[in-house]
Amino acid sequence: FLYSFVAVVAAYLIGSLSFAVIVSRAMGLSDPRSYGSKNPGATNVLRSGNRAAAILTLALDALKGFVPVLIALMLAPRFQFGELTIGLVGLAAFAGHLWPVFFHFQGGKGVATAAGVLMALNPWLGAATLLTWVIVAAFFRYSSLASLVSAAFAPFYQLLIWGPSPLVLAIAVMSLLLVWRHSANIRKLLTGTESKLGQKSAPAA
Ligand code: G3P
Repeated sequence: FLYSFVAVVAAYLIGSLSFAVIVSRAMGLSDPRSYGSKNPGATNVLRSGNRAAAILTLALDALKGFVPVLIALMLAPRFQFGELTIGLVGLAAFAGHLWPVFFHFQGGKGVATAAGVLMALNPWLGAATLLTWVIVAAFFRYSSLASLVSAAFAPFYQLLIWGPSPLVLAIAVMSLLLVWRHSANIRKLLTGTESKLGQKSAPAA
């Protein structure tokens, strides 16, 4: 139990690295919490107009979900981590992104981190979910809509193709939290005021 606990806490701390803020700071850009949707995430960093910063944010936020789960999977035989621990490690990294201990618990919406977690939990599931995102984004040009649809599908992909397991539960909880974090986006989508992918927003002075 102790090792599982340590793994979950470590994943939470890694998830707490809010890379949208860290990357923007390192590259001398404005704080993403000050413009656009004010969300510390890759989509909003893209609104700064700096594509490289957005891609870096996306990659690092995804890696912080991917790496803890991968390490937990590698250590599983040695420390007898079951699927429950693996699922909790993924959930903890995701929770770190939403409520980062290093950033006053004000984090993002979890899309990139969830993608990284899924990719490590089950690469086929990760690929299917990513493909869902790309298809919806290509058609509708809304990052939030693509994320919402992908989040809705992910637990069902896992359940229907690989059967019930603690992983399904962990993925479902991640999806529910992700949808809840998008409540402002859902309102904007419904009122037609959501900004399209890549639309720039002048950083607040
Ligand atoms: O689904 C992407 C999500 O993070 C949307 O971000 O900045 O448009 O609220 P944002």
